[in-house]
Amino acid sequence: MTDPDIDLAAAKLRQQLADHLAAGGWLRSPTWRAAVEAIPRHVFVPRFYAETDAPGLTTWKPVTPQLVGVDKWLRQAYADETLITQFGGREIDWADPQPISNARPTSSSTLPALVVRMLEDLDVNEDTTVLEIGTGTGYSTALLCHRLGAHRVTSIETDPAVAARARGHLAHCGYRPRLLTCDGLLGYPEAGPYDRVIATMGVRSIPSAWIKQTRPGGLIVATLRGWMRSLGLVRLTVDDNGTAQGHFLSGDPSFMIARQQDAPESLGMIPAPDEGETRATAHGPELLTMADSGFVAQLAMPNARFFSMPADDGTVSTYVLDATNDAFATLTPSGDEWTVRQGGPVNLWDDVERSLALWQAADSPAPSEFGVTVTPDAQRVWLGSSDGPSWHLPG
Ligand SMILES: C[S@@+](CC[C@H](N)C(=O)[O-])C[C@H]1O[C@@H](n2cnc3c(N)ncnc32)[C@H](O)[C@@H]1O
Repeated sequence: MTDPDIDLAAAKLRQQLADHLAAGGWLRSPTWRAAVEAIPRHVFVPRFYAETDAPGLTTWKPVTPQLVGVDKWLRQAYADETLITQFGGREIDWADPQPISNARPTSSSTLPALVVRMLEDLDVNEDTTVLEIGTGTGYSTALLCHRLGAHRVTSIETDPAVAARARGHLAHCGYRPRLLTCDGLLGYPEAGPYDRVIATMGVRSIPSAWIKQTRPGGLIVATLRGWMRSLGLVRLTVDDNGTAQGHFLSGDPSFMIARQQDAPESLGMIPAPDEGETRATAHGPELLTMADSGFVAQLAMPNARFFSMPADDGTVSTYVLDATNDAFATLTPSGDEWTVRQGGPVNLWDDVERSLALWQAADSPAPSEFGVTVTPDAQRVWLGSSDGPSWHLPG
């Protein structure tokens, strides 16, 4: 394919992508549609890894024009899929790219449906200034530049190699927004205050810098997450007294966590068999993995992680460990029921069951019935209204 052929094919694929995003209800306004139809996503992902449907461990395969052909590469670049560009914080060896399994993606071009729904949720107009955290490939930054003008866009990327590539891709498209290579959790006060802050990576709580750097009445759109799972997308309105409040939005989107907030490398010590107190419980580990109850469990145990492991007799137990205070809960099947053994400074499973009971008493509402209040002193997720049952986010 010659370059003009690529441009022609890409323009058609962009229209198809825009049609798909509009049909799904993600792309709602003509102005964002114009941005999706204009920005060449393939320029931002000259090579990437795409998830395969192989059973078992999640596996990604390399995709470049040389490896799969220009036509296939181009079609994948415009698929409504997340395209991974970095694993484990290390650069990919593109001299000899191999399939990758069981790795932790650390940079990507996010799922277009999620990118455009967040941009729609950002509720901008022509004069809006935006601080974006997590430049990544620069694709979402380019959409913002198209919609608002590059002079209204500031974007921060923490990884120098990723940031350098994004700068190149944006310049190729003729965009020169303010790009910073630093920790976006600190924002960039020099160019603030901003009308909007949008984060394309997950955070455990809303950084106070983002609130300080948002104009009163401005919006923050970000995903909250823990070390077990994502909590979801929130949209907060910043007040004029340094507080912010808003609701979780519908859907179950997930982002990679901010690098500075990643879970500790070690999962912690597996408790000795004679440690802790054992009792029966009505809830097994599926509570942690099911969408809505998993959300509640994440709120109840903000510092926990879990894994399952067979004992010598083949019985599979699930270990829930708090990375910060050595609390543990071990779930073991007992006939058709479960037992839990808990120890450490707090009883993790008691906390989960209390939270679950509150949620069930309210008719097990979806996460969009929960909201968040952020003050300079504390961050709380609440159910129903700000004086309803609430859970603290880690500080
Ligand atoms: C999902 S990717 C961003 C996708 C991007 N918006 C796009 O459209 O290509 C998340 C990015 O956030 C970056 N990141 C993680 N922690 C960060 C931090 N504290 N400050 C700034 N960037 C961060 C990662 O290096 C990664 O490139």
